[in-house]
Amino acid sequence: MQTSDTVTVTMDGATALIAIDNPPVNAAAASVRQGLAKALEVIADQGVTAAALYGKGRTFVAGADIREFGKPPVDPWLPQLCQWIEDSPVPIACILHGTILGGGLEIALACHARIALPGARVGLPEVHLGIIPGAGGTQRLPRLTGQALAVEAITTGRHIPLDEALARGIVDAVADQDSPLGAAQATAQALAAGQLAHRKTGALTVRPDPAALDAARAALRAKSPHLVSPLKAVDAVAASTLPILDGVAAERALFDDCHATPQRAGLIHAFFAERAVAKMPEAAATPRAFDHVGVIGAGTMGAGIAAACLIAGLTVTLTDQTADALDRGRDTIKAILEGAAKRGKLADPAAAQSRLTTADTLDPLASCDVVIEAAFEDLDVKRQIFAALDTVAKPGAVLATNTSYLDVNAIAAATSRPADVLGLHFFSPAHIMRLLELVVADATAPDAAATGLALARKLRKIAVRSGVSDGFIGNRILRSMRHAAETLVLTGTSFAAIDDAMEAAGWALGPFRTSDLAGLDIAAAQRKRRANLAPLGAMQLDLPDRLCAAGMLGRKTGRGYYTADGDPNPDALVWLTKERQEKGMPQAPVSAPDITARLLTAMITEAVRIVEDGTALRPIDVDAVLLFGYGFPRHLGGPLHQADQIGAAVLVDRITGFAQSDPVFWTVPPLLQSMAETGTTFADRN
Ligand code: CAA
Repeated sequence: MQTSDTVTVTMDGATALIAIDNPPVNAAAASVRQGLAKALEVIADQGVTAAALYGKGRTFVAGADIREFGKPPVDPWLPQLCQWIEDSPVPIACILHGTILGGGLEIALACHARIALPGARVGLPEVHLGIIPGAGGTQRLPRLTGQALAVEAITTGRHIPLDEALARGIVDAVADQDSPLGAAQATAQALAAGQLAHRKTGALTVRPDPAALDAARAALRAKSPHLVSPLKAVDAVAASTLPILDGVAAERALFDDCHATPQRAGLIHAFFAERAVAKMPEAAATPRAFDHVGVIGAGTMGAGIAAACLIAGLTVTLTDQTADALDRGRDTIKAILEGAAKRGKLADPAAAQSRLTTADTLDPLASCDVVIEAAFEDLDVKRQIFAALDTVAKPGAVLATNTSYLDVNAIAAATSRPADVLGLHFFSPAHIMRLLELVVADATAPDAAATGLALARKLRKIAVRSGVSDGFIGNRILRSMRHAAETLVLTGTSFAAIDDAMEAAGWALGPFRTSDLAGLDIAAAQRKRRANLAPLGAMQLDLPDRLCAAGMLGRKTGRGYYTADGDPNPDALVWLTKERQEKGMPQAPVSAPDITARLLTAMITEAVRIVEDGTALRPIDVDAVLLFGYGFPRHLGGPLHQADQIGAAVLVDRITGFAQSDPVFWTVPPLLQSMAETGTTFADRN
């Protein structure tokens, strides 16, 4: 019997089987909740002796329906439903398969027994969405595991593997069936026969563990003081010593606090951004087959890309001009593979290494399905390599350039097959960073781009489509943000104050500490390349060039903006004072909120232009690049999500105000102006 569009109840002798069928992940949407509520009535009315609840498809319920957050609530609420399940006079077992997360685990915890299929993983990942478990998870999990494990699992949101879930008492047993339906039939019968206890999790008591809770609070305050929900989660777990209904009420109040924060909206935007970017027009094309990847250039980037491919199980041929460079590349790769094995990311580093061959000519690349050029960032160098590659690569091979800025159309034009050429902008360290800008040039064939997307998936990276543009999406925004930061320095704000303000807002590193880490020579090379172009703004900080001239390139030389101890470099301070005096700049240091507002507005302004000129497909693609490749704080959701929070009209006013000091840099993009006039948002354009 169908109790809603997504829930059915089937009688199986004296027992009942309740199935949820809401693809793709059985999210506990309104129709699932309504169907389950009705199913409880049905099984009570029909006098069944026991019931089993299971999910069809790839997983049991993977959580509440995230798309419902921020919308008016629809009855019944999940906490209420979980209480009805727990209070059901008919014993109900839950069959766990796939990823049983959030509200899915909360439903399972409210059931009277939990039987898992091999491979099941459970977790309460709500903090990643800026909320806490809101359907009794913070109350029932500690009743099974104790407060220490519960607080750790809920504040990290990690997926708990089956063996651990079993050892901790979250799961009662592993089924010897391989289908959820089979397990449901067997479990319902076992429950009816009294072989499984009719136990109410909410009736169990919890021993307070204040030491574990205090330690969790201290660790969170040190690690992520700007995040609201993890600390609220600790408070909720603390309430688990109360009777279940009181505890659930306390949890609800804390959940509501989290739900009302902008962090919740930012984190949920980030969740959907990660998935939305894969929806590019070229995704409809069939990717070309690939197994053998060629990498040109054995430097840090080339070796990192080669290692990432080897970790993903691909065969790699790495080329460079000299035996020395190849030796260094091989050593770097070996170290990365061994590191990956230590972190549990790679089972057999020796086997991965054995799939690597090296060569000091391009000839062996003839057998590669995809070739990624990671040579020196210079257009002429790259064009020469592509011309040579054109004579070597097999027909149909996809030829990719790992450039951070350069014109992929010009690189493609050096070959006789521009349809096979695209950009794959990796981020360093390439085996770790999740972002990949997939640059689709004018002539790139859809199936070549689809191959880039498939390769990104294979490497477990997030590919974001970008058009050809100097610096694509990410580096264009970075350039603007840096310029805004540098002009603040010129007008009296210290670079340390800027770094501190950005870090307090949730960035891992401020812009000047990032420069020190990356090496000041990288940005210097870009300034040199762009020297003939119009300057970004009316004023320009010369300090970075002065530091480079003195060989102070950041951490790799022991000194940059900062010394090795992390103090501001005294030489930098002297040169800065001199530059400010020589330029006769009025000195007006700004506060931390003004710093973050100024830098964010610079990022937003460039992000708007990137949408406006079509470099990015949608605003959410720009957000994804910043979130997954540039350390934009996840809870802020990306620059254009922030633009919507601030509002186009306010931004126009802000930019107009900033333009008084630098009318060249601060100009209102026409798209933003029109959005301010029509009251539309970037979310409307996603
Ligand atoms: N609600 C709505 N849609 C969801 C969803 C959810 N909880 N979980 C996944 N989806 C959607 C995804 O957006 C995606 O949609 P598109 O195909 O349209 O892009 C689709 O389901 C498949 O998801 P993935 O591509 O992520 O598939 P995967 O196999 O790689 O991963 C997963 C599956 C591990 C379940 C992963 O999707 C995931 O982690 N989902 C979120 C789980 C979660 O956070 N649950 C807690 C929700 S909050 C909650 O439950 C609050 C509460 O206490 C009541």
